[in-house]
Amino acid sequence: MQIEFTLNGKPIVVDAPPDISLLTLLRDDLGLTGTKEGCSVGECGSCAVIMDGRLVNSCLVLAPQAAGSEIVTIEGVHAPDGGPNDMQENFITHGAVQCGICIPGMVLAGEALLMHNPDPSRAEIRTALAGNLCRCTGYQQIIDAIESTAHGRLAVGESHG
Ligand code: FES
Ligand code: FES
Repeated sequence: MQIEFTLNGKPIVVDAPPDISLLTLLRDDLGLTGTKEGCSVGECGSCAVIMDGRLVNSCLVLAPQAAGSEIVTIEGVHAPDGGPNDMQENFITHGAVQCGICIPGMVLAGEALLMHNPDPSRAEIRTALAGNLCRCTGYQQIIDAIESTAHGRLAVGESHG
């Protein structure tokens, strides 16, 4: 079947079987392998994408459910010059990246949080990451990176404001 949706800001039409997951569609049909497959059953968050402004586990979304939606994957998160954005830079500078499999989902969880709550408390950041598992970092550096990004964006907003 044909599925039409917006992917990282661009409209696309893709022909796909109706019974595959959005994760499979993204990785296998569209070659966007930044979205990672961990558990495949909705428990780890490594496959997270932003769908209509909300973080979802793409392994639990059927590809046809994407029809008409706006999806952002990690490939859609970058600075205007194509390099890492401020969130990604903060993950690097805070040492929040080890093996990396959770990181696309973590970055997208951070972006989804800041879309709705630009000045989250550390407790709110923890809650926003509740569905994203990391076996390596102990989470503190990830929370630090998201908090620094929020503070940095607020500072930029104030200086423009
Ligand atoms: S691969 Fe989707 S939640 Fe783990
Ligand atoms: S950096 Fe390895 S699982 Fe998070």
